Amino acid sequence: MSAPDAPSAPEPVDAAALRDLALAVAREGAALVRERRAGVVEVAATKTSDIDVVTEADRACEALLRERIAAARPHDAFLGEESADDEHAVPADGVRWIVDPIDGTVNFLYDLGQYSVCVAAEVTTGGVSEVVAGVVVDVPTGIEYEAVLGGGARRDGVPLAVRGPAPMAERLLCTGFSYDRRIRVLQAEAWVRLLPHVRDLRRRGSAALDLCLVAEGRVDGYVEEGVHLWDHAAAGLVAREAGARTRVLPGVGGLDLLVCGPSHGFDELVAIVEWAGFSAGTAAE
Ligand code: IPD
Repeated sequence: MSAPDAPSAPEPVDAAALRDLALAVAREGAALVRERRAGVVEVAATKTSDIDVVTEADRACEALLRERIAAARPHDAFLGEESADDEHAVPADGVRWIVDPIDGTVNFLYDLGQYSVCVAAEVTTGGVSEVVAGVVVDVPTGIEYEAVLGGGARRDGVPLAVRGPAPMAERLLCTGFSYDRRIRVLQAEAWVRLLPHVRDLRRRGSAALDLCLVAEGRVDGYVEEGVHLWDHAAAGLVAREAGARTRVLPGVGGLDLLVCGPSHGFDELVAIVEWAGFSAGTAAE
């Protein structure tokens, strides 16, 4: 009698191959979004509030990304902004794709530039998840940001690095505001405290592209409550691989608060963000 087959070992993950697939599908998604922008763009529906909008292009791009990824890797899981279940549920072991078909939908709607297609590949082993490949394509410009865990980050193939150290008073920060009006009030109050202590603030409209700006050393940090995994999975890896750190804290409004900045001076950034009252349980006196 022959011995029963031993269970097959899980296939090792080739992060560079996942990045290559992410890049191929994100390029295709960006081409679709660009083409849609050339036509008439209208709000198709609202989501978490009346100002949280979705267009047909968001849906079409997500469907395209899902279809292309499933064709190449039929056994992988998929989390997309427009079809998401619980983004915080612990994924099963294996690869999960995390996509934002248009990050910066309001900019897309108003034709303001600054919107991107984001594709990340996350690997879970024994309940521990890690993003191993990430791609962000700036749709109007076609600029491509990509990173592989442990393999650095690039913009159109050129390696990226964060800015050098700067005192807090000379740091330029990016942020975003929640679609939840109640949280916006809390965000505005925290900015009233923080703004006098930094160089200035930018609100450009795509969290992913803001994180890529940190990666390429064009701003000194990013702070926002209310971001979702699809907003920062790909771009967070790009930033970390360029020398930044990211941390998700409980925000004062009860949502995820993301802080990102060059690893030098990161603790100081988190401390002043907490002092200013962005995070739960901390506020300036
Ligand atoms: C939004 C953008 C925006 C940020 C919001 C995000 P979406 O993503 O990244 O800059 O402030 O928190 O939800 O809705 O355009 O995919």
